Formats: sequence, structure tokens, C-alpha cells
Amino acid sequence: MGNHHAREHVSAEMPLMLLQYLVKNYGTDAEITRLVDSRDLYIIPMVNPDGVEYDISGGRYHMQRKNMRKNNGGTTGVDLNRNYGFMWGTGGSSKDGSSDVYMGPKPFSEPETAAIRDFVDSHPNLKVLLSYHTYSELILYPWGHKYDAISDEKDLKTFSAMATKMAEWNNYKPQQSSDLYIASGDTTDWAYGTHKIFAFTFELSPSSQWGGGFYPGQ
Ligand code: ARG
Ligand code: ZN
Repeated sequence: MGNHHAREHVSAEMPLMLLQYLVKNYGTDAEITRLVDSRDLYIIPMVNPDGVEYDISGGRYHMQRKNMRKNNGGTTGVDLNRNYGFMWGTGGSSKDGSSDVYMGPKPFSEPETAAIRDFVDSHPNLKVLLSYHTYSELILYPWGHKYDAISDEKDLKTFSAMATKMAEWNNYKPQQSSDLYIASGDTTDWAYGTHKIFAFTFELSPSSQWGGGFYPGQ
């Protein structure tokens, strides 16, 4: 999944490029062909299209993070990555509609997060989920709503091994989400917490604001 957050444009390009890579190499690359033939892959490149349209409107960027919900009180937007219904509202999110990390009036109040919930709930064969964000070059795994590590030791080892292996490939830094900061109601805590899916948040390139931050160019 990409573009939970509107201004994180690279996070939609990455899932589209993954799709392109699979289609290009299917039938010629034996390993890609085997993987595509033996797995179900779902790509949802833009979870927050209304926010993205606003972010690029008028020929300039608007630093929009949230969706375009008209909140009670005249503010705009719910943070979709604080709106998921697992340990919702337990820290690192806000009840204030003007906040960039506004959690919404209730879990899954937003059509975007409800759609992802319904999709995941209705595909019980899902084993792994990647949610792309930008930026910082990190690979994050649960928990994000608390500092405690996952209590199931086998799952923790799996998360850690997968994050370490992926980090070897792309030189990102693997770590528990809450080591970045505490946030509740995010996609990956919900996916693991309710479905035991191995769910990761990628913070894509660039590594910092000096590399362009949310708007690094083509
Ligand atoms: N930048 C993302 C966000 O703020 C990452 C969240 C990852 N989860 C966490 N608990 N840190 O939504
Ligand atoms: Zn984000």
C-alpha cells in the first residue's frame, strides 16, 4: 500500500514500480515467474487519493498529510495512519481536528481505512503487508503503540529476520516502530494485532530533509 499520507508521493510510485517490475519480468525471469504463479499479490498504490489531489492542486505542493474529511468544527482531515481500530487513541495521536495526527471520531471512521479493513478482513490468506510511507529510509515493525516488543517469540524472530534481510537489500535501517516514536491506530499494528499478518512500514527515500524530504523530485 502507498499514499496513506497525501504528500508522500514516492510511496505511490514504489508499489507501481513493483507492479511494473513483476509484469516486465514475468515469463523471462524464472524466480519472478515462480513467485507470481504461486502467490496472491495485491497492490493498492494510493489509499488517500483525495488528499493527493489536493496536495498537487493549483500547480504547487500543499504539504497535505491527512485525508479531506470535513471535521466538525471546520477543520479538515483525519490522519489515516491513526484511524485503524487496534489500540486506537492510546498515544501518539490527537483528538483535535486541527492536528496533523488527528485520530478521527472513532476507529475506522474514514472510508479509506474502512476499505482497507474490509479488504484485509476478506482475504484471510494474507501473510505479509507492506505499507509505504516517506521519508527516512527505515523498515519498521510492530509494536508502534507501545515500547514492549511483540510477546510471541517466534513472531518476533520472524519480524526481525525479515526486516534485517530486507535492510541488507536496500541499506535501510530495521527497527521496532515505537523506537521511531509512539503512534497508535496505524496500519501495521492493526494488521498484526488483529490478523497476525507480518506487516511492515517502510519509510522510503530520501534519508532526510536535505535529500528533498517529501518532495525529492523525479
Ligand atoms: N511516519 C509514519 C506515521 O507517522 C510512521 C508510523 C509508524 N508507526 C509508529 N508507531 N511509529 O504515521
Ligand atoms: Zn506517512
